[in-house]
Amino acid sequence: MDRVGRVALVTGAAKGIGLAIAQRLSRAGYDIAIADTDATGARALAEAIRRDGRHASAIACDVGDRNGALRMAEEATLALGEIDLLVNNAGIIRLGPLVNFAEEDWRELFRVNVDGVFFCCQAVLPGMIVRRRGNIVNIASWNGKLGAPNFGAYSATKAAVISLTQALAREVAPHGIRVNAVCPGIVAGTPMRVEVERQGKEFGLPPSSERARIIPLGRLATPEDIANTVAFLASDEAAYMTGQAINVTGGLWLH
Ligand SMILES: NC(=O)c1ccc[n+]([C@@H]2O[C@H](COP(=O)([O-])OP(=O)(O)OC[C@H]3O[C@@H](n4cnc5c(N)ncnc54)[C@H](O)[C@@H]3O)[C@@H](O)[C@H]2O)c1
Repeated sequence: MDRVGRVALVTGAAKGIGLAIAQRLSRAGYDIAIADTDATGARALAEAIRRDGRHASAIACDVGDRNGALRMAEEATLALGEIDLLVNNAGIIRLGPLVNFAEEDWRELFRVNVDGVFFCCQAVLPGMIVRRRGNIVNIASWNGKLGAPNFGAYSATKAAVISLTQALAREVAPHGIRVNAVCPGIVAGTPMRVEVERQGKEFGLPPSSERARIIPLGRLATPEDIANTVAFLASDEAAYMTGQAINVTGGLWLH
């Protein structure tokens, strides 16, 4: 059964997949802290969730900044109560061949996609350990499981997220805390997808709509497909699952 009356903190929830996750979890009965660098978008979503009858709080935060992440968790707790569920969704993408990939782009990808997950986990885990209860879901990517030209730096960050998920899951399992990852395939309708199309053109990548032809289920993913899997992993129905990196790819990637 979905948990009712609990608090979820979702990073990068002002737009895209994170927004769908926040909405899905609020429908499952969670109060939601929305943490994002986009403070305006976060506030708009918090208002919408409140109109639907749940508590919600918007927090302006850069997850790649350690103090910012610690402050975010404190603000969320003050506004809504102890955090039961952390969804590390905030992420960015930069494409290009590794051979001349700019160092600043490499560092920024790791700062947001990897440091961000690490800092947010550190921010919520001490409280979860004390309460002997908690749940973390990290949004990785199918790109974290395969190497592909132009996605090398991004893939390395997502492989790191999968590895961190596995190690942390085993570390905190004795404290009653579960940690899993979701690996989306090609998700349509988010600002990141628009960004991939824009950057991809430069490197001769086919548009995502064309790539849909090689997806066994015959379509791109929706943000809701990913949100439904997060809601499942967060629920007690997944009580025996930890350390997993679940593909949501329409059959595009199987391992
Ligand atoms: N779109 C896809 O096809 C796809 C596929 C696989 C995995 N993913 C992963 O799913 C997650 C969400 O993707 P999306 O498509 O919704 O992305 P998006 O760019 O559409 O949205 C990301 C959100 O994160 C926020 N954000 C960015 N940097 C931040 C930071 N430093 N601190 C806090 N918030 C920050 C943005 O403001 C935005 O609201 C990402 O981790 C991404 O890597 C996306």
